[in-house]
Amino acid sequence: MRVVLGVSGGIAAYKAVSLLRRFTETGHDVTVVPTDAALRFVGAPTWAALSGKPVTSQVWDDVERVAHVRIGQQAELVVVAPATADLIAKAAGGQADDLLTATLLTARCPVVYAPAMHTEMWLHPATQANVALLRSRGAVVLDPAAGRLTGADSGPGRLPEPEALYAACLAAVAAREGSTGAGDLAGLRVLITAGGTREALDPVRFLGNRSSGKQGYALAEVARDRGAQVSLVSANVTLPDPAGVVVIRVESALDVQQAVASRVTDHDIVVMCAAVADFRPKAYAPTKIKKTHDPTGGPGGADESAPVIELVRNPDILRGLVEARGAATRPIIVGFAAETGDAGGTVLELARAKLARKGCDVLVANEVGRHLTFGQDANTVHLLFADGSPERTIGPATKVKIAEAVWDGIQALGHRSTDSNPID
Ligand code: C5P
Repeated sequence: MRVVLGVSGGIAAYKAVSLLRRFTETGHDVTVVPTDAALRFVGAPTWAALSGKPVTSQVWDDVERVAHVRIGQQAELVVVAPATADLIAKAAGGQADDLLTATLLTARCPVVYAPAMHTEMWLHPATQANVALLRSRGAVVLDPAAGRLTGADSGPGRLPEPEALYAACLAAVAAREGSTGAGDLAGLRVLITAGGTREALDPVRFLGNRSSGKQGYALAEVARDRGAQVSLVSANVTLPDPAGVVVIRVESALDVQQAVASRVTDHDIVVMCAAVADFRPKAYAPTKIKKTHDPTGGPGGADESAPVIELVRNPDILRGLVEARGAATRPIIVGFAAETGDAGGTVLELARAKLARKGCDVLVANEVGRHLTFGQDANTVHLLFADGSPERTIGPATKVKIAEAVWDGIQALGHRSTDSNPID
């Protein structure tokens, strides 16, 4: 996503550095547009180095490329953090005497203002009227956080923390994209896990798996495009955060369990797409496990033996969700099964047994192997339904097409299972 980070002249400009990093580290393309006053707090070299782009506050630079118009026109999101009372007043009045205010006039994408100022300035009727005007025109103006301000005083006026700003920005983009309400998942809150867990052995090593997260991310993007509010619990995925999706980064199976448990009650559908490790090392070595050691302590007494790593079972998160739901009909719970097929049965036979064992509503089974599925863009899956609906095979198809079909299946299930409360 092409993001413009506007920074106006307040002490909280230093927090915008973390917001910039959050955007760039998640694969977004960020142009920083500070005001002159902002550059008194954080200098242009910091913004340029961290964004990888030249930085100016003036409309007189880069004139041949008509930057004062182009930056705003091309933006997919503009966020102003911090937004001072003065910047808010200028934006409300339609002034355009520097690059940031000109950009705000030309942007047609979601615009988020994160005000930060002293409480008196925030509560002043002039500021409140300007905020109301901007909101009435469709801008998102966040409420400042309350707490300690620059001096000894405290009250509303603090810039929210970078993580909260980041989430608010993605929510603004999602709201714009889903605002038509036309999508068949509009109004639904969807929680998706993606990627593969890592179970730490020591500070440098872990037990992991080959899941790339592509299928889970495709599910998240398709759900978002169909109008759902999407939260994505992402385990060790290197893909950029999908715009308009709230991404929660985790590492281990226990992290996934905690992230899901703390959110599940707020969601209508949970899709457990992540490859969650069934086992983790019983003990975590706080220092790096050495290749050799000398139990005798004598010179040249290298011990060639290898350590034995004892494993313990991880909780089955999917089964735990089903048990916690009990007799309720929500959330709809979807599991994935990566199967290789073995002497015990074909992929489909193993998947049927797994659907029964896990007790989820839908199971998406796919055949995996060293060069099958993991990291690939195309895939073949079988959809199995607990309510006895006919099984479906989808593919070979792109992971986006598979995601579409999975959501079709979940959508139809919602209509069948709860006539009084269908997904519509
Ligand atoms: O039993 P198996 O690992 O094959 O089941 C896969 C499904 O169960 C996936 O949906 C995965 O996200 C979920 N799972 C889980 N907790 C585990 C292992 C897998 O929720 N510990």
